[in-house]
Amino acid sequence: MALRTLASLGNVSGKRVIVRCDLNVPLKDGVITDDGRIRASLPTLNALLDQGARVIVLSHLGRPDGAPDSKYSLAPAATRMSELLGKAVGFATDTVGASALAGIRALDDGQILVLENVRFNAAETSKDANEREKFAQVLADEADLYVSDGFGVVHRKQASVYELAQLLPSAAGLLIETELQVLDRLTETPERPYTVVLGGSKVSDKLGVISHLLPRVDTILIGGGMLFTFLAAQGFKVGSSLLEVDQLDTCRGYLADAQARGVEIILPTDVVVAEKFAADASHVITSIDGIEDTAFGSSGLGLDIGPATAAAFATKISNSKTVFWNGPAGVFEFPAFAHGTRAIAEALTRVDGLSVVGGGDSAAAVRILGFSDDQFGHISTGGGASLEFLEGKKLPGLEVLGW
Ligand code: 3PG
Repeated sequence: MALRTLASLGNVSGKRVIVRCDLNVPLKDGVITDDGRIRASLPTLNALLDQGARVIVLSHLGRPDGAPDSKYSLAPAATRMSELLGKAVGFATDTVGASALAGIRALDDGQILVLENVRFNAAETSKDANEREKFAQVLADEADLYVSDGFGVVHRKQASVYELAQLLPSAAGLLIETELQVLDRLTETPERPYTVVLGGSKVSDKLGVISHLLPRVDTILIGGGMLFTFLAAQGFKVGSSLLEVDQLDTCRGYLADAQARGVEIILPTDVVVAEKFAADASHVITSIDGIEDTAFGSSGLGLDIGPATAAAFATKISNSKTVFWNGPAGVFEFPAFAHGTRAIAEALTRVDGLSVVGGGDSAAAVRILGFSDDQFGHISTGGGASLEFLEGKKLPGLEVLGW
């Protein structure tokens, strides 16, 4: 079956259309630090509004505990959406309560309303399919059509992603279509050399993708917190750096498998070691065999890849024809430890081929570091979703759309 697209919904004029977006944007003191996911939702919203649909936007933000929590409110996202759309965007202070129902019923053709964080309702993420379906039914009763456009959340079997799509005539929005076109190019016939850059804190988050990619790529570059588990697996002392002791054997297995396949897994040769986890922490650059020999001894912790590694990674990246990058190389939120991430981002902008930045964190990193979206082939809005897609997994939120 093929993915059902917007055209399959027919004429949407005057129809109440629920659009499941992923407006899970990073916030600092209530201010959005990267509005990329809101921007990415605009093409679908504009397409529906231009046709006179009555648009009801559903999304999650963060991981609240199934109950209202003001720090996860979607109100700032609704305000930003209104600025970007250049039109009024209503906001309901609940998802299925009096405010939402009144807001939906008052919508006119071509008007738009954002409902409060769908995860303020425990049923949204319930493990019990009946509970999720009952909750989704309340929303379905208030709408005519459903459009799924939150690519970042299609790997979740949650009420607003999975059950709701089955209760209404449903289709994928334009963002999902675009994401799939690009990610397909990474999985079908990528141009070689194909380099994957992995970072972020946990090896365990990347397990599936590393095993799946090993037979398909030429080079894997490892940065981020996870690099220390790889170093420890090779016998290096890593001080107080992030370490997943239960993944040491897995890392050894990947290194052996890569060697047998003739795939390069390139680990850093130098790192930046800090006295503590803080923006203003004292820090030094050291080779990977000297992590515990700095003035900080065994309490030093690695917070970034070093300059020699960054330069080597950059050369590998810019000489590739296809590059997928997921996970920052260091603690980019602290300027002193953002150099590795910046060097990787810069190298991606020089790729003569397809460069894809995958993931909420990496996408936020490039924008926060001052890069613009058009410097890359594609910035995916999905972190976990793009990784699971590359792992070759079936994603529930895509399956329900005929994918
Ligand atoms: C993301 O940030 O990857 C998506 O918004 C999904 O969020 P989740 O991991 O909390 O489901």
